[in-house]
Amino acid sequence: MHILHSAISNEVTRDWQDINYQITPKNLMYPIFLTEDENEIEPIEAMPGISRHGINRLKEHLEPLAAKGLHSILLFGVITSLPKDNMGLHADSPQNPVINAIPIIRKWFPDVLIACDVCLCPYTSHGHCGILQSNGSINNPASIKRIAEVALAYAKAGAHVVAPSDMMDGRIGVIKEELITNNLAHVAVLSYTAKFASVFYGPFRDAAKSKPAFGDRKCYQLPSGASGLAKRAASRDVEEGADMLMIKPALAYLDIVRQTKDAHPEYPLFVYQVSGEYSMIYNAARSGAFDLKAAVCEALISMRRAGADVIISYFTPVVLDWLCLRS
Ligand code: PBG
Ligand code: ZN
Repeated sequence: MHILHSAISNEVTRDWQDINYQITPKNLMYPIFLTEDENEIEPIEAMPGISRHGINRLKEHLEPLAAKGLHSILLFGVITSLPKDNMGLHADSPQNPVINAIPIIRKWFPDVLIACDVCLCPYTSHGHCGILQSNGSINNPASIKRIAEVALAYAKAGAHVVAPSDMMDGRIGVIKEELITNNLAHVAVLSYTAKFASVFYGPFRDAAKSKPAFGDRKCYQLPSGASGLAKRAASRDVEEGADMLMIKPALAYLDIVRQTKDAHPEYPLFVYQVSGEYSMIYNAARSGAFDLKAAVCEALISMRRAGADVIISYFTPVVLDWLCLRS
C-alpha cells in the first residue's frame, strides 16, 4: 500500500517534505534603485510598491529590513539630470549615485552585503548595454574594456560583489583580471550568466530609465529557447573565473536553472525574479486572482526546487515580514 496522505497530515510532517527548499533571509537578495536626487523617494509606476530612493532616504527604508535579517542588496543607479553619452560616462563618475552610496551604506549596515549591477544601459544615450559601432552593432572589445572599468570603480568604492548584466562576450575574464591587478581580488563576480531577451524586463526599463532608444537587445541577450547557449554561457563564465552564476528571468526559465545547477553544482546559483514577474504576481493578487503571500511563496519555492540558492526579488521586504513561509 502506498499511502501519501499520512506523510502530509499535519504541519510538521508537511514541513519535512519540503525542508530543503525553505526560504530564509540568506536565500534573498533585494534589488534597490538609487536615484541621483538625494532627498527623493520616487514611486515606480510600472512596479507598484517599489520606489527609487535617494541616498538620504535609504536608511529609513533599509533599517527595518536589516532588523528583520536582510542579508544582501543589489544596487542599480538611475540618472535623470546627469547627461547620458555613447560611452556611459556617468556609470563610474564621481557623481554616480551608486559610487556615492556604497561607503555610506557600508557604514550604516556593516552586516549587509552590497552587490552592484554593472551595465552601461542606464548611462548611455542610446540605452544599449555596451558601446556601439557607427552601424549600431556592438563593439565588443571596447564594451568589455569599459564595463571592466566600471566594475573596478564599484569595487574600489567598496562593493563586495560586482554583477555584470551587459551580456558582452568575455567580460567576466576581463573584470577578474582588472580586479586582481588592482589588488581587489577579494571582490566577487556574480555573472548574469544566462540572461534571456525577455518581455519580463518591461517594468525595469521604466524603473532604471534604461530603455534602448532604438532596436532591441536580441543580439546580446539569449533567445528564449536557447538552452544550448545557456549551457555554453555557464561553462564559459566558469572558465573565466565567475564566483557565482545567475539565471534571469526566473519563473519562465526553471529548466535552465536546473540544467545549470546540475552542470556546476560547486557554484552558488542565483535567479532573478525580474520586474515583470513581480508586476504579474502583484497585479494578479490585487485583482483578486489569488492571495499574494501564497503566490509569492509558491513561486519562490519553485525556484529553490529548480536549484536556485539565492533569489533576487523585489518581494524581499514582504517576504522578510512573512518569514518563514510555513502556513
Ligand atoms: C540592465 C538590466 C536589466 C535588468 C537587470 N539589469 C534590463 C535589461 O537588460 O533590459 C532586468 C531587471 C528586471 O527586469 O527586474 N542590463
Ligand atoms: Zn544593460
